[in-house]
Amino acid sequence: MSKHIVCVGKSTLDQIWPVGDMPTSGGKFRAAGYLVLGGGMAATAAVAVARLGGEASFCGRAGNDGAGHMMQQELADYGVDVSQFKLFDGARSSVSAIIVDRNGERMIVNYPGGDIPDSADWLRDDTLNGVSAVLGDVRWMEGAARLYQEARKRNLPTVMDGEAASATIFSTLLPLVDHAIFSLPGLRSFSGGRIVDHAESLQAVRLRGCKVASVTLGAQGVLWLDDEGLHHLRAFDTPVVDTTGAGDVFHGAYTLAIAEGMRVAEAMRFSSAVAALKCSHHGGRAGIPTREEVNQFLEQQK
Ligand SMILES: Nc1ncnc2c1ncn2[C@@H]1O[C@H](COP(=O)(O)OP(=O)(O)O)[C@@H](O)[C@H]1O
Ligand SMILES: [Mg+2]
Repeated sequence: MSKHIVCVGKSTLDQIWPVGDMPTSGGKFRAAGYLVLGGGMAATAAVAVARLGGEASFCGRAGNDGAGHMMQQELADYGVDVSQFKLFDGARSSVSAIIVDRNGERMIVNYPGGDIPDSADWLRDDTLNGVSAVLGDVRWMEGAARLYQEARKRNLPTVMDGEAASATIFSTLLPLVDHAIFSLPGLRSFSGGRIVDHAESLQAVRLRGCKVASVTLGAQGVLWLDDEGLHHLRAFDTPVVDTTGAGDVFHGAYTLAIAEGMRVAEAMRFSSAVAALKCSHHGGRAGIPTREEVNQFLEQQK
C-alpha cells in the first residue's frame, strides 16, 4: 500500500523569462519565452512524493490571489491533496521573477509574500490520520512545529529541509525532528555564517536531538552523521541540464523512503537517484522521475 506523506511549508510561484544575454543595466529587453511554474521546498517535495507513487498532502499558506490559485491548481494537477493549502483573503502570495540566460545563469528576484498569518491553529486535528511521515521546511515554523509535535505523539518519523533560517527557527524545530537534512547554505546559516568542518557542524546539529544530521552538497553528493558515524555518498553521474529543485525533490524522496521502511543509507541512495534524474531534465517538477524510472536507473548502477 502506498504511504501517505504530509509536507508542510513553502509554496512559491516562479515566473521565468528566458533571454539570450543577461541584462546588465536598466532598459527594455525581449524574452524568448515565458513560463509560470510552482516552486517552494515543501510544495515541490510533495510533488516528488506523488510522482514516486506515494500519497502526498501539502499544508501551507498563500494569498487568495492569482498566484495562490495557480499554485493550488498546479499541485492538485500533480495529484497532491491541497485541502490544507490555505489562501488568505487580503494576503499576497510569494512570487519570484527569474531571468535565465542562454548559459543557464539566473537572476532571481523573490517577493516573499505579505500579510500571511503565521498561526497554524487552523490545521485540522486529523491531519496526520493515516499518515506515515512528516516533512517540514523552515519557512513556516508554526506549521512545521505543530505537525512535528503531533507526529511525535503518534510515533511517526519527521524530516526537516534545512535551508538558511534564523537561530530561533532552528532551535524550535530541530528538537522535534528525527532527520535534519540541510543544504550547504542552510548548514552555514545554522553554524552562524561559516562552516569550519562539515562533520563538526553536523555533530552540533545532532546535539539538538536529531538521529540523522545531513548536508546535501550538490554534485558532490550527500554527507550524513548518525549513530554509526559519518557517511558520504557521491552524486550519481547524470547529464545535468537543470538543478532547480534538486534539494526539494531529494527531501520528498527521502521522506517517502523512510516511511516505506528503508534504512538511512538505502534512503540516501534512493533520493540521490531521484534528484540526479531530475537534474537531467528541465524544470523543478516536470523532470521528477516515476518510481519505475528510478528503479530502472538504480538497477543499471549495480
Ligand atoms: N549536478 C548534480 N548531479 C547529480 N546529482 C545532483 C546534482 N546536483 C544535485 N544533485 C543531487 O541533489 C541533491 C541535492 O542537491 P543540492 O544542490 O545540494 O540541494 P539544493 O537544491 O537544496 O541546494 C544532492 O545531494 C545530489 O544527490
Ligand atoms: Mg534545498
